[in-house]
Amino acid sequence: MSMQRKAPPTWDKVGKHALFPEAKHDEIARFNFLANLNMHLSSDVIPGVKEAYDGRARPQFFAQHGRDPETRHEVRALMSEDPYYQWWSALRRSTMEMRQQAGRSLVLRQMDKLNKVAASFNEGQDTLQLNDDLPLPNYVTIVDTHCMPGSYHTAEVDGDVSAGANYDSGIFVTTVGQLGSMTDGGGRAISDWLKRDHGDFKPQRILDIGCTIGHNIVPLAQAFPDAEVIAVDVSAPVLRYGHARAKALGVNNITFIQANGESLSDLANESFDLITTSMFLHELSTQSMPKILSEIARLLKPGGLSVHLEQPQYAGRPVFEQFMRDWDTWNNNEPFWGTMHDVDLEAMIGNTGLPESHQFTVAVAAKVDESIFPKTEHDSDSEDFGRAAAWNVFGAWKPTQSTKQESAA
Ligand SMILES: C[S@@+](CC[C@H](N)C(=O)[O-])C[C@H]1O[C@@H](n2cnc3c(N)ncnc32)[C@H](O)[C@@H]1O
Repeated sequence: MSMQRKAPPTWDKVGKHALFPEAKHDEIARFNFLANLNMHLSSDVIPGVKEAYDGRARPQFFAQHGRDPETRHEVRALMSEDPYYQWWSALRRSTMEMRQQAGRSLVLRQMDKLNKVAASFNEGQDTLQLNDDLPLPNYVTIVDTHCMPGSYHTAEVDGDVSAGANYDSGIFVTTVGQLGSMTDGGGRAISDWLKRDHGDFKPQRILDIGCTIGHNIVPLAQAFPDAEVIAVDVSAPVLRYGHARAKALGVNNITFIQANGESLSDLANESFDLITTSMFLHELSTQSMPKILSEIARLLKPGGLSVHLEQPQYAGRPVFEQFMRDWDTWNNNEPFWGTMHDVDLEAMIGNTGLPESHQFTVAVAAKVDESIFPKTEHDSDSEDFGRAAAWNVFGAWKPTQSTKQESAA
């Protein structure tokens, strides 16, 4: 096993803004330790899991059944008994819990100050529209998503932004900086792809659903500064933080709205040129996801574009890889992760009225910020099963009258 790897960028490389929580020496050291542990697990330790599978677990299974495991569920049942896998998996889970506790203690000790700074950006602004009466979906409140205490929606006090501040300050650690100093590599990848492959596409109205703190919609709003951008989410604390963060970064063309993407009845039919979701669909319940995709089809203008950014789907991948990619479903409080990555996306999007002939899938890599994460001779393409910034971008163009006729011909 190769022991050569680059170190993750240190936490001082995180992009700061006026709302960003301040961190003391020991808090920074804790984040740096956790980023290094994360990277160590996903580069040096992870190959041993495959070695344990090939060298120990799979031959045992073959001896018993006369065949190799055929589904990821069979691989999981087998590997759950393997001591090396148990060790790697327990460390990965503990790293996530420690990262959440590190971010949370950092944020809670300065919560009053953060809430005041956010309020100074937010008060009186019609670009932040909250709705205290919005019912939160059960699947959102029932689980502390990826081990975040209180998830995205819990407010400790009125006007709270702590969930957003925790998300913003610690995600660099979880992703070991691979999404860039502003954690916006996904949004940058989409805007770069649009400029490169669809240079004539100039959206005037853009919608992002499940925006959280706007990490990935901010770069699109910057790329299309004349566009009117709407970013919706059900969770008020992350919207308060996201709105203030955008203002602090000097981005003024986004309106953050608290709403449920399943039913955006205040937004008119066919009123958006571009609708995006990033790292969002995998957190939706199986009932919610088709409803949101249908809303997107309703809201797109003819000729408009929907773009979704996710980790790759499982279909066609070796069962061992599927099992490793599915780790989050069982161990990281991401209950819908596996279901979403199994879905036949073409069929589901097709059912919303956006035909397969108008759909696309492109593999993009999040744009790595080389100022913080320079390429080195040690860079390798080795698989880390879900932490590297390799994304599946898929979506559809809504047919216009003429493209409908062309496809019919
Ligand atoms: C994984 S985060 C999305 C990350 C974000 N798009 C980014 O690029 O950083 C999921 C977000 O979806 C929100 N959410 C979940 N269900 C929703 C729904 N039905 N409508 C709107 N937002 C929803 C949650 O509150 C949470 O902020």
